Amino acid sequence: MPVSSQVKTLTQLADPLGAPAAPLIAIKNLQKLFATRSGETVHALSNIDLDVADHEFISVVGPSGCGKTTLLRILAGLDVASGGTATVAGEQLTGPRPDVGVVFQQATLLPWNNVLSNVLLPLQLKGDRSQASIARATKLLTFMGLGDFAQKYPFELSGGMQQRVAICRALMRDPKILLMDEPFGALDAMTREMLNMELMRVWSEEKKTVVFITHSIPEAVLLGDRVVVMSPRPGRISAVVHVDIPRPRSLRTMGQPRFGELCDQIRAMFGAETHAVAAL
Ligand SMILES: Nc1ncnc2c1ncn2[C@@H]1O[C@H](COP(=O)(O)OP(=O)(O)OP(=O)(O)O)[C@@H](O)[C@H]1O
Ligand SMILES: [Mg+2]
Repeated sequence: MPVSSQVKTLTQLADPLGAPAAPLIAIKNLQKLFATRSGETVHALSNIDLDVADHEFISVVGPSGCGKTTLLRILAGLDVASGGTATVAGEQLTGPRPDVGVVFQQATLLPWNNVLSNVLLPLQLKGDRSQASIARATKLLTFMGLGDFAQKYPFELSGGMQQRVAICRALMRDPKILLMDEPFGALDAMTREMLNMELMRVWSEEKKTVVFITHSIPEAVLLGDRVVVMSPRPGRISAVVHVDIPRPRSLRTMGQPRFGELCDQIRAMFGAETHAVAAL
């Protein structure tokens, strides 16, 4: 048997009969143009093709302004593409979906609500104030180490704690998919590392599929199954790097030679892009 026919893709391996499993998120030839007030058109995304498998952790890195947030907002159903398609579980996106949770860089908690009410918000907006929902919110808060803070108000919490509340809120409707836009960008290094570990735990124990935007290459490599590297505007995918470091991973993983090699590889891609732009 030729070697090439023995090599199966990850999605084929997911099915014992060898039929490729359908991706949970399928992005094909996605384009996004913004019409600005000055009449200029901004080409934010160009020819984005990406399949994300069920329970995959995808990290996305790229220079500022390359369209990462735009891509995430389209996947969240908060913005519409100008061309191409994006489907979740085989369905065309027409707006926000209950099976997709979103966490942004700022926790954006309601200051007049206590922690528990903030976490319950997605269900309360739908009129659900059941004991089962309160029990789930309490369980999530405990899971994220905030069991004693349910009755506190956002101003009484640190930035890292507020971001954990935002993650609990995003998990409230038990979404299959978590979309995260630099969720730990504003935090100090130690809090960030701790939340990286907690996110990995949530991802693995709750079997989520995560698309995680970050400016930190080490964070992208530590968390991701694959790292998607985007190029400057118009944002394209310039490379997809498979992180062949076994799980479970810990902070000590960052000391492994392979971890350093992958970070260097991705850093070099950034350098190449910057030089290409400078040469224009
Ligand atoms: N609503 C909008 N109207 C006009 N232009 C926009 C709009 N939203 C984003 N853009 C432009 O689209 C491009 C991509 O923006 P986006 O916020 O997606 O970048 P990003 O990769 O998330 O950047 P950063 O890393 O700084 O967060 C930028 O040039 C931005 O100015
Ligand atoms: Mg952004």
